[in-house]
Amino acid sequence: YGDASQKIDYVFKVVLIGDSAVGKSQILARFARNEFSLDSKATIGVEFQTRTLLIDHKSVKAQIWDTAGQERYRAVTSAYYRGAVGAMLVYDITKRQTFDHIPRWLEELRSHADKNIVIILIGNKTDLEDQRAVPTEDAKEFAQKEGLFFLETSALQATNVENAFMTVLTEIF
Ligand code: GTP
Ligand code: MG
Repeated sequence: YGDASQKIDYVFKVVLIGDSAVGKSQILARFARNEFSLDSKATIGVEFQTRTLLIDHKSVKAQIWDTAGQERYRAVTSAYYRGAVGAMLVYDITKRQTFDHIPRWLEELRSHADKNIVIILIGNKTDLEDQRAVPTEDAKEFAQKEGLFFLETSALQATNVENAFMTVLTEIF
């Protein structure tokens, strides 16, 4: 958690995408402020948060953009993806439909973002294991086929959130 006075060597823009209610905003809240809220409101438009970290003795400012999963609240697509060097494609492991929509999100990402963008597929809400609807193997296989990184997370329990961001940021770096 670097402080604002330090010199910044790099600024990396990373975008969060995926269906509504999969936990994008809470993954970001966990990463940026180590916070979590169970009564998170649907995002309207675009929000972003930053966190500065040290990677290989360089200070990297991660600027994480978060938009609405709901079509009617979404931001202008081209502006959202402009300059992004990383993307987190999020689904909810308890909602099969959110995983089934991943190819659509990937298509949007690939048609608007830089072709070298680093992408990680994230299955969120692993704390709800008893309600799991998406087997880990299915997602792993999909990620492998599409050349994506893959991790399962819980924003609630803070499982793998740091790891997911570090995977993307160190790969960009
Ligand atoms: P939109 O802004 O509408 O696109 O949704 P979002 O993807 O940003 O979802 P959000 O982060 O607002 O979370 C939706 C709901 O899921 C909220 O009630 C969160 O508290 C809950 N949630 C998010 N992450 C987790 C998690 O890891 N575990 C559990 N159990 N609930 C979670
Ligand atoms: Mg949101």
